[in-house]
Amino acid sequence: MKLPEELQFIANSRMTQKTTESRLDGRVCVTTGATSGVGYQSVIRLAQGGAHNVIICRNLDKAAMVKTEIETFYGTRVDVIPADFSRLNEVRKTADVLLENYPRIDVLINNIGVHYTHRTLTDDGIETVFATNHIASFLLTRLLLERLKESAPARIIQVNSQGHRFGGLDLNDLNWEKRRYKGLQGYGASKVAQLLTVWELAEQLEGSNVTINAVHPGEVKTNIGMNNGLIYRLYQRFIIAGLLKDPIISGNAIYYLAAAPELAEVSGKFFNLTILEKPAVHALDRALGEKVWKVSEQLAGL
Ligand SMILES: NC(=O)c1ccc[n+]([C@@H]2O[C@H](COP(=O)([O-])OP(=O)(O)OC[C@H]3O[C@@H](n4cnc5c(N)ncnc54)[C@H](OP(=O)(O)O)[C@@H]3O)[C@@H](O)[C@H]2O)c1
Repeated sequence: MKLPEELQFIANSRMTQKTTESRLDGRVCVTTGATSGVGYQSVIRLAQGGAHNVIICRNLDKAAMVKTEIETFYGTRVDVIPADFSRLNEVRKTADVLLENYPRIDVLINNIGVHYTHRTLTDDGIETVFATNHIASFLLTRLLLERLKESAPARIIQVNSQGHRFGGLDLNDLNWEKRRYKGLQGYGASKVAQLLTVWELAEQLEGSNVTINAVHPGEVKTNIGMNNGLIYRLYQRFIIAGLLKDPIISGNAIYYLAAAPELAEVSGKFFNLTILEKPAVHALDRALGEKVWKVSEQLAGL
């Protein structure tokens, strides 16, 4: 039975995933949030493929463990840049460190993501989930864009989510001052905004040999949401966790998007793991995308 288009993502998540034997020896791959879950599995897979990992992490003890593990077991280099991506000044500092130390960047994986059940604001005065999931990745990408172009062929991967289907984006109320905050919609808003800027960036990057794509990394067992209250955490651990898969599948999918030769010219697409998929209609509204682009620039201070 063929599912209606808007439910096709359910069937896609059961499809056989694509893989690649292509290697990334010595390629500089920058991943944000590599101390856990999707990001951690991605850098492990990148190390297996020979990549030189640069990881951006807020917890230096966890980052040191990832570095030791990869350097010991895979013999590839890992550099750590400390940063809290809920703070835009730390995103800017990260970009400065990257531009100063890496004459080429082959792959940028914007992976950091959070889910809050309640509304909080960052020091920059932006709702935390929107700031961390969207504005930080937007700002980092923009600050690294010229370096990525100089390094072409290069690839940008935005770790997005099926959560974009929850919607929640209201440009008149990005900080949820007029609405009651709902965690899934706050998360959805950040992911819709990110997708809308992916289409804009893909168009701007045409002819540059730099691609940008978004990926849903599967429904996987990670630490996301574990910053929330006890009831949420118990629900997540004992009810939801049993339904989730091992984030190894996310690492494999992100590696495929970073390395597969058949994707060298594919840009401006949304992948459910490695399967090309149509996002929700509200995330394809290009007129809204232009507005999101402008407001993202303003919030990011660009
Ligand atoms: N898990 C899923 O089923 C799923 C589904 C769809 C999409 N995703 C997306 O996958 C991405 C990764 O999430 P995950 O599930 O792997 O969650 P996770 O296990 O919580 O990993 C998130 C990573 O981001 C880091 N991070 C969070 N906030 C940060 C900040 N302010 N500054 C610096 N680093 C920060 C975390 O660092 P710490 O280790 O210090 O906490 C961790 O390394 C997110 O974009 C998420 O939206 C996940």
